[in-house]
Amino acid sequence: MAATEGTRAQRPSRIAAAQNLPRVASCLGRPGAPRASSMIARATSEDLSALLDIEQRCFNGDRISRRRFRTLLASATAETLVDRSDGRLRGYALVLFRRASTVARLYSFAVAPEYRRRGVGEGLLRAALALARRRRATRMRLEFRRDNRAARQLYQRAGFAGVGETADYYEDGMTALRMERRLEPAAAVSALRRALAPVAVQKGLASS
Ligand SMILES: CC(C)(COP(=O)(O)OP(=O)(O)OC[C@H]1O[C@@H](n2cnc3c(N)ncnc32)[C@H](O)[C@@H]1OP(=O)(O)O)[C@@H](O)C(=O)NCCC(=O)NCCS
Repeated sequence: MAATEGTRAQRPSRIAAAQNLPRVASCLGRPGAPRASSMIARATSEDLSALLDIEQRCFNGDRISRRRFRTLLASATAETLVDRSDGRLRGYALVLFRRASTVARLYSFAVAPEYRRRGVGEGLLRAALALARRRRATRMRLEFRRDNRAARQLYQRAGFAGVGETADYYEDGMTALRMERRLEPAAAVSALRRALAPVAVQKGLASS
């Protein structure tokens, strides 16, 4: 997708109260930060207009159409997560699955320009990773424009590593960079959290 550049802004807290979502989506706040009324949840057909608005404002080309969004929202092999705050949709992450595959694909991902650099993207990405684990995916793949510095930085920080490039991938001929990240099984993550909890409390890191 032909992404527009984000702007720098102050980063408030982003405690997400997610319903029926992996626990990671509900503990995205920073230690000591005030609580915000934001949450990450699965998108519904009522989010369609807001999703299209974000799509329009975040990408210059290769946009997802209304029809495609509608199909994806109804699909059993797609998950669309949205971040809402005070009734406004701040961003979304769309993950695709295939029945006979353990590889999840982050198909699209965007945060409205006015909410960037506040951790919304990172929160959505973590929720998407957790959801993929829940669906027993063992790897997540994604691709993005070679000139998209924000995406590259965010994905690298989240543990993705480059696995290749595809020339002339986007409408305007831009190369796509492909990245991948291994997903620890959900059970292993919970066990590790439990094992580390006393250490975290001792060091005052429990909410990180
Ligand atoms: C990429 C995108 C989703 C990031 O969303 P975001 O909410 O601003 O991201 P976060 O605030 O969670 O940023 C997390 C980290 O990513 C990196 N990052 C985010 N935006 C960046 C930018 N413009 N330049 C450099 N690094 C950036 C930073 O490391 C940042 O941490 P920091 O703020 O502590 O430095 C957003 O810029 C966007 O929607 N862009 C247009 C669509 C797009 O490119 N989608 C992804 C590819 S399809």
